Amino acid sequence: RTVAVVLAGGTGTRLGLGIPKQLLKIAGKPIIEHTLAVFEAAPEIDEIIVLMATGHVAEAQQIVDKAGFRKVTKVIEGGDTRNATTRVALDAVGEADCNILFHDAVRPLLSGRIVRECVNALWTYSAVDVAIPSADTIIQVDENECITDIPVRATLRRGQTPQAFRSSTIREAYRRAEGDPNFAATDDCGVVLRYLPETPIKVIDGSDENIKVTHPVDVHLADKLFQLAAAQVPRLTQHRSYSDEVSGRTIVVFGG
Ligand code: CTP
Repeated sequence: RTVAVVLAGGTGTRLGLGIPKQLLKIAGKPIIEHTLAVFEAAPEIDEIIVLMATGHVAEAQQIVDKAGFRKVTKVIEGGDTRNATTRVALDAVGEADCNILFHDAVRPLLSGRIVRECVNALWTYSAVDVAIPSADTIIQVDENECITDIPVRATLRRGQTPQAFRSSTIREAYRRAEGDPNFAATDDCGVVLRYLPETPIKVIDGSDENIKVTHPVDVHLADKLFQLAAAQVPRLTQHRSYSDEVSGRTIVVFGG
């Protein structure tokens, strides 16, 4: 059995809308509805559990009922932090061994391909992350905003979700974390890395479109990406290429 856990326990302070951002409508539907539709349509997913922000559980349940998502078995309240929400989800999934995919509700442009590759990777690995290369150079800074390190870009990735686990692995990681007063993590793979360091965590390719709606600009981006998907516009097909005589390289010009 494979369970998708949709993490929607946050309130979206960085977007600052006054409602949790997962309820914001993009392309005619609340963001969380787009996200749930991906798992509902994915043949690898048997069950979906939704963890919703306090005070908005009924709204999320209404969205589920109206859309007729039949795989959703529970819509319940999340926790105070993302990791607390994961803990609530682990209790809700039940004791039986299964595969669990944790996904940010606010990444509505997840593809079926990524879901499939996560679930397939769980045949070999007990923990799986999704990431993309970083176009930007990532710098590390100290408390004075001065650079302390510039890690080699080729070794860096930007983590996305889903993060997928065999249930026994993620449960054991969180069980060990419970005894640590300094526990702090912003994702679930980080908990496995820290508390079960011997566990290999496989990374599969994410996508540039699998954005996390976080800042106002992301709302515009997501809206545009849904428009393109609806119109089935092939990406970046508007281009021509020619061979540059001086360098001998192939030059590709987009948009003309
Ligand atoms: N999340 C959660 N439970 C929390 C906090 C966050 O389930 N207590 C979820 C969010 O709903 C979101 C995902 O984790 O789908 C990624 O978190 P983030 O983008 O940080 O969302 P928010 O916490 O809502 O945003 P902000 O940090 O701007 O308040």
